[in-house]
Amino acid sequence: MAQTPQAKHRKDYKQPSHTITDIELTFDLHDTATTVTAVSYVKQLGNETTLNLDGEGLKLEAVKVDGADWHEYTELDAGLEIRDLPAECELTIVTLINPEANTALEGLYKSGGAFCTQCEAEGFRRITYYLDRPDVLAKYTTTVIADKQQYPFLLSNGNRIEEGMTDNGRHWVKWQDPHPKPSYLFALVAGDFDVRRDEYQTQSGRKVALEIFVDKGNLDRANHAMVSLINAMKWDEERFDLEYDLDIYMVVAVDFFNMGAMENKGLNVFNSKYVLANNQTATDTDYLGIESVIGHEYFHNWTGNRVTCRDWFQLSLKEGLTVFRDQEFSSDLGSRAVNRINNVRIIRGPQFAEDASPMSHPIRPEQVIEMNNFYTVTVYEKGSEVIRMMHTLLGEEGFQKGMKLYFERHDGTAATCEDFVSAMEDASGIDLKQFRLWYSQSGTPTVTVSSDYDAQAKTYALTVEQVTEPTQDQKEKQPLHIPFDIELYEKDGKVIELQCNGKPVHHVLDVKEAKQTFVFENVAEQPIPSLLREFSAPVKLVYDYQDDELTFLMVHSRNEFARWDAGQMLLAKYIRSNVEQVQNGKAVELPEAVIDAFRGVLLSDELEPAFIAEMLSLPNHNEVSGWYKTVDVDAIATVLKAIKQQLADNLADEFGATYHTLKQTEYTIEHAAIGKRALRNVCLSYLALTDQGEALVKAQYDSANNMTDTMAAMSAANSAQLACRASIMEDYSNKWKHDGLVMDKWFILQGTNPASDALANIKATMNHEAFSLKNPNRTRSLVGSFFANNAVNFHAKSGEGYRFAGEILRELNSSNPQVASRLIDPLLKFRRYDEERQALIKKELETLKGLDNLANDLYEKVTKALEG
Ligand code: TRP
Ligand code: ZN
Repeated sequence: MAQTPQAKHRKDYKQPSHTITDIELTFDLHDTATTVTAVSYVKQLGNETTLNLDGEGLKLEAVKVDGADWHEYTELDAGLEIRDLPAECELTIVTLINPEANTALEGLYKSGGAFCTQCEAEGFRRITYYLDRPDVLAKYTTTVIADKQQYPFLLSNGNRIEEGMTDNGRHWVKWQDPHPKPSYLFALVAGDFDVRRDEYQTQSGRKVALEIFVDKGNLDRANHAMVSLINAMKWDEERFDLEYDLDIYMVVAVDFFNMGAMENKGLNVFNSKYVLANNQTATDTDYLGIESVIGHEYFHNWTGNRVTCRDWFQLSLKEGLTVFRDQEFSSDLGSRAVNRINNVRIIRGPQFAEDASPMSHPIRPEQVIEMNNFYTVTVYEKGSEVIRMMHTLLGEEGFQKGMKLYFERHDGTAATCEDFVSAMEDASGIDLKQFRLWYSQSGTPTVTVSSDYDAQAKTYALTVEQVTEPTQDQKEKQPLHIPFDIELYEKDGKVIELQCNGKPVHHVLDVKEAKQTFVFENVAEQPIPSLLREFSAPVKLVYDYQDDELTFLMVHSRNEFARWDAGQMLLAKYIRSNVEQVQNGKAVELPEAVIDAFRGVLLSDELEPAFIAEMLSLPNHNEVSGWYKTVDVDAIATVLKAIKQQLADNLADEFGATYHTLKQTEYTIEHAAIGKRALRNVCLSYLALTDQGEALVKAQYDSANNMTDTMAAMSAANSAQLACRASIMEDYSNKWKHDGLVMDKWFILQGTNPASDALANIKATMNHEAFSLKNPNRTRSLVGSFFANNAVNFHAKSGEGYRFAGEILRELNSSNPQVASRLIDPLLKFRRYDEERQALIKKELETLKGLDNLANDLYEKVTKALEG
């Protein structure tokens, strides 16, 4: 390690010394040597006459001020210092970059045959020297020059204003973006594509050209993205009164991309995974993912682009809010309960795990070494939960008033999380002083509830205690303002009106103290409480429910989410007790009453199939691991497997009947059809464990007319290790080996293969013609899924899983540190395992730490983990 990377702190924010009001960029595109000419209009803001620009991996060709060569500059390690600048000037900088050698996929790089850019968070500095920070907003004019035959489409932000030819077959296009923006929203794409075109008319009558660019031959996979885009534009007008603000909206799908997608102004760049779909190549989950990500990037146009972030510590300002908006979009278009369940699973699984890891941080982090490490489930998903809590406290109307005020105050500027909360507070008159702690405090609060019914006084007291355990980043914790949504039921299912001190009270209680008691009056009988309804705050709930109370809530809760949650709590009870049983050498046992409760759910003709499917899905190994200080990998796996087997054995007839009734002949992506397939395929996953398994799974694979059913069969064969697995896998690979994106599903099954020789197969699969460690999607599918979702094999006592991880991470550290840094997460939690495993993992972390080219991304995580 040449130099120890330094952390930046939120409290050190300073306004920039200069701003840039306009920039004219010219790209002369060549694979290995692209010349970038940047002409910036620079204005000094204070007394400082030295301008420090950011830059990385650039070859500097020229510096000019107001047209004349300038010599008062020094090239620094990661920037350019320019001295004695006039208070206002035109600064020209010419740099040379090599897009083909750019395997990190930040800045300008080649994806397949196309040029594309990724600038968030700090990628623009790999294109030219610049004030690469989100509070410098400039108007961009961009000219792109490239060979016309190879790159017929030359794209950038805003509107196309001019085009022409130059010498030897090269052409150029000039784009102008009228909206001032920070550098991270800049984008350029050059390539040859098929284009799916449509048009949208906004509520005020503006016509917007919609263009989706996909690799040649993929036009039949672009329809769903277009439909989703139009739905998103309409939804944002209806629900948020927000309209699009340019004449053109472009989406480009690329195969090499580090994340999901990027909201560049007027020119979104997408991981092709979130664009391409038809019923032969994509599952229902893929379709829903596309709808959600297309929505997410579109919604950023207001929450992110029109109002951007002052500094990167404020990332949740745009991401938490935009995730909230995309979740609402999906919920308004589809099933609200199913969406809520899946969002809550992410919080209870990966987010709680992150809170408990060496990387714990508040949704607004205090210190950062590598910004790319903070695009996390905490900033995104917990960030969204924090917005959702404000929505719960203010109600839809109050929340929309707050949004309106937020845009009135901050449109066209770079704002902070504090600005957002103030707008919500000022618009509603609701005090959010204590609530602000959600932005600065990390960790997961545990809310422990006890109840006391006084039959004589007819009062029911709920005592609510909150404790947030210290986290690695922050020792002291304070009580938070927790919106705690409850309902009380009588035995016959009747809802009890909530009354305190003679007055009706709202079902969302304001929990603000470390310990607080709520006494409800006129409660005629011992009630059954439904607690933390809708998961009204991202906390762990502890309440000593009896089995019959949970089975009651599974049936009688008025709210579907609460029913599901009761089912999960019932399962959790028996997963916990059975883990103990297994640890004591005893067999796994599931009481008859529990099985009956799930039979009731399965046979219900009043519940929607999509919802029943969720009720019947067990928590996964990662979520269960999160319940323990020390994780017993094998005991958890044994219990989850045995519980599933017992449900399968006891409910085989019911699963079989449901499976057969839900058969659909035609494939549509309507929500009702998706729900039926989901339940049918959950049934198949159970039936795979019975003696009908082989026949049913094989038959489904052979007769499926859509990828959802194909994958469900493959996945069932994989999890249940059926004999037909091998031939099915081979058939699929023969069919799809030329299509990396479709092969990703197959790579995931290899990565999560429960067989004890899985790792040997994975290593062999790395030679598959569709695999490449240079492609993030392939890497995440095969290798990433092994690290994160194959607990038993990854954590094998031999240490072979960890050694493999070490090798892969060392290679990715050099080629693509951002991907390496996502894959390493499971290793960071090494203190949660037994001593032998700890030692084995630690060794790999230490080897990484010793690398002399260790990237900041891994440095930050590895040092935190070893410190912990
Ligand atoms: N802003 C993007 C989003 O949430 C995230 C993103 C895309 C990103 N690509 C990235 C973040 C690369 C960091 C690096 O939609
Ligand atoms: Zn986003």
